[in-house]
Amino acid sequence: MNDLKGYFKGEHIVSFDQFDPRSLDVLFTIAKQMREVAQNAKPSRLLEGNIATLLFYEPSSRTMGSFDAAMKQLGGNTVVVTNPQQFSSAAKGESFQDTIRTFEAYCDVIVLRHPETGSVAKAASIAMHVPVINAGDGIGEHPTQALLDLFTIFELKGRLSGLKGLVAGDLLNGRTVHSLLKGLNLYGGNIVYLLAPKELQLPMEFPDSNLTLVTVEDAHDIPRDCDFWYWTRVQKERFSNPADYERVNNRFVVTQAMLDTYGSRHMILMHPLPRVGEIEDAVDEDPRAVYLKSQIRNGMYVRMALLALVLGKAP
Ligand code: NCD
Repeated sequence: MNDLKGYFKGEHIVSFDQFDPRSLDVLFTIAKQMREVAQNAKPSRLLEGNIATLLFYEPSSRTMGSFDAAMKQLGGNTVVVTNPQQFSSAAKGESFQDTIRTFEAYCDVIVLRHPETGSVAKAASIAMHVPVINAGDGIGEHPTQALLDLFTIFELKGRLSGLKGLVAGDLLNGRTVHSLLKGLNLYGGNIVYLLAPKELQLPMEFPDSNLTLVTVEDAHDIPRDCDFWYWTRVQKERFSNPADYERVNNRFVVTQAMLDTYGSRHMILMHPLPRVGEIEDAVDEDPRAVYLKSQIRNGMYVRMALLALVLGKAP
């Protein structure tokens, strides 16, 4: 493992395309160590003296909260800038370029969420001194969410190949789905069933790949032996016309009866959150539902691991 600790040192993390099974192996091994640090409340000084700027142009609970907690769990610190378009000099007309150049002067890594697809790649090309991590760029990608999703599947199913899964909801605008499918495509023999309104179909293809994608139109078509279901909300903020959103919102809702009818006993039910009605609250108590449990916690562990790697301080 020693020779692999240099993975991602000083690198921008823009897309899931940057990962491969070997680097994920390293990352997940470190994430497990990070769980020990966090759960045992073992004080860590790994990132002492390091500062991350969390620059969030879009709302966030889990991504920002877990990056913030991840830095602090490791003895580092954060500069949190939410809604910069309103509360930073961007409101006075400052350019994106100047904003990035400014905040990089204060920190060792920038974690950026922005409504424009490609904006994190742009920030990465602007930043001269620190790496930039993509915390969601428009409808593009959300690579660190896919890291925690894959880590969750790996931990609970014991493998990342030969899986049968269902991904449902807003496949067009859901950036977490885009990164997750890229991740599943790194391993052999995965089959993913796609369930979405026809207006919200997946915008990308995986030609000549290991990943088999099967579009289904109705809950009746869900195979009964899936290893995981990955549900997502319809991304309201991407619609210019509210009526278009209302037309497609919550077309597919997970109820207990639906889970019991179409789900297997051994599957896990995931969701990146937030949910806005597409999984009924009653389902939360089902042991297969992991979205409010391990899936959230894993977000902090993988982000601790990624920050340690990017900052060149992996244990
Ligand atoms: C997701 C996002 O921001 O893309 N949230 C998250 O980071 N867990 C999913 C969503 O907003 O629907």
